Amino acid sequence: MSGDPSRNIDHPAPLPFSVAFDPRDEEEVIARWRGLLRSNKWSHGAELDEFEATWTAWNGLPAVAFDNWAGAAAAILDFFDVAGKTVLCPSNTFLATPRSALRAGARVEFYDCNREDLCGSYADFVEKAERHKPALAYIVHIGGHIAFDIHRIADYCRAHQIALIEDCAHAVGAEWDGVKPGAFGDAGIFSLYATKTISIGEGGVAVTANPDLERHLRSYRDYGRGSQYRIQGMNHRLDEFRAALGVVQMRRMPDIVGWKQQYAREVLDPRYPNRVTLPAGMASGYYKYIVFDEIPQTTGRVYELPCHNIFDPSAQFPNTEWVAKNHWCVPIYYPT
Ligand SMILES: Cc1ncc(COP(=O)(O)O)c(C=O)c1O
Repeated sequence: MSGDPSRNIDHPAPLPFSVAFDPRDEEEVIARWRGLLRSNKWSHGAELDEFEATWTAWNGLPAVAFDNWAGAAAAILDFFDVAGKTVLCPSNTFLATPRSALRAGARVEFYDCNREDLCGSYADFVEKAERHKPALAYIVHIGGHIAFDIHRIADYCRAHQIALIEDCAHAVGAEWDGVKPGAFGDAGIFSLYATKTISIGEGGVAVTANPDLERHLRSYRDYGRGSQYRIQGMNHRLDEFRAALGVVQMRRMPDIVGWKQQYAREVLDPRYPNRVTLPAGMASGYYKYIVFDEIPQTTGRVYELPCHNIFDPSAQFPNTEWVAKNHWCVPIYYPT
């Protein structure tokens, strides 16, 4: 929880959009940037190392920083060599998720979500996995909580040799019984885009416990350096300026997420009983606060258009279609 008493949770709704940046951190960011300006080291430096170490301290897994989510996804999909293979992907996600697989040369097959959590349904996952025999699957932690079926989907993937990648774009600050996003499957990918709970403007982080994958990611983001250019990566590096901002943002993350959790618990939960209700032991980072009643003060829906509607309008995913019409987001922004 924020130690600053001026950060009162008792705000009149709705909260206006604000990038989660605490003014108390301004001096430190400027000092780090001033140091960089005088350092002659604007890439591949100590800020990147510190940012990755700071991320690992929260996430519990080795972390590799990227220019954005898409760069990290390209590197992971390259490691698993998905070209010509099938990738399973929830339809209820941002276009980035299936497009990353298509751009890697894979075939994409969609699966449905649950209504309660908006995330991948175990029952439909198994049905589609039996039918399409995927080499790799995505699960997406929609809205900042962890997919309720993650354990069963991860167990199924392990038993059937399906690589499982967690799209953690929304999930910074989340955990379930102490386990952080990205630790359930083979790897996780976070986004640090400008609207996310923790942002550096543009950026991404891949986490994995697999040392071979970690080495691949480090090489891929740098044109294959370190692999005698055998790994055919491109430039997906994160520069020192954004890495420095990332160090400061991740150190402030417990305050930012703690504030959102308190605001959710004390202000929003009593107002919105018909909402995504978290199972015992789960904490959300509250990228979104999702309710199932139409409300006047809303930031709209997480996604208006399910992905299967973009690629194959004749396909049917009943829960995804229900979710697209029946959820709304209540503004929840760390006040600055
Ligand atoms: C679920 C999901 N995956 C991936 C992305 C892509 O992230 P980035 O903008 O960092 O490439 C987003 C972006 O909002 C997202 O919502």
